[in-house]
Amino acid sequence: MRRHLFVCTNERASGKPACGRRGGVELVTAVQQALVARGSAARVTACGCLGPCFDGPNAVVYPEGTWYGALGAEDATALADALVTGEPYAAKRMAAPGDEDPDED
Ligand code: FES
Repeated sequence: MRRHLFVCTNERASGKPACGRRGGVELVTAVQQALVARGSAARVTACGCLGPCFDGPNAVVYPEGTWYGALGAEDATALADALVTGEPYAAKRMAAPGDEDPDED
């Protein structure tokens, strides 16, 4: 299974939090480098706002629909491991917007 990590790199001029300005851009690069080092076919792609801006930088993995928040470049190694193994990176996992439990579908 090829997993795909979408990382919010949204920028906005207002004072509202935006993942791009808070480290999302650096996170994309760091995860890409970690995946290359592992020879993994998993993908990471920058994307626009995922919704829970105050929790960011945020990311989501498909096909599982596993959400992560409060990420930084220091999390790249653990995220790459999660993409390779399929085991969620528990330390930064969060519920999907609208859910209360990260394990809820
Ligand atoms: S700006 Fe990243 S989730 Fe909204």
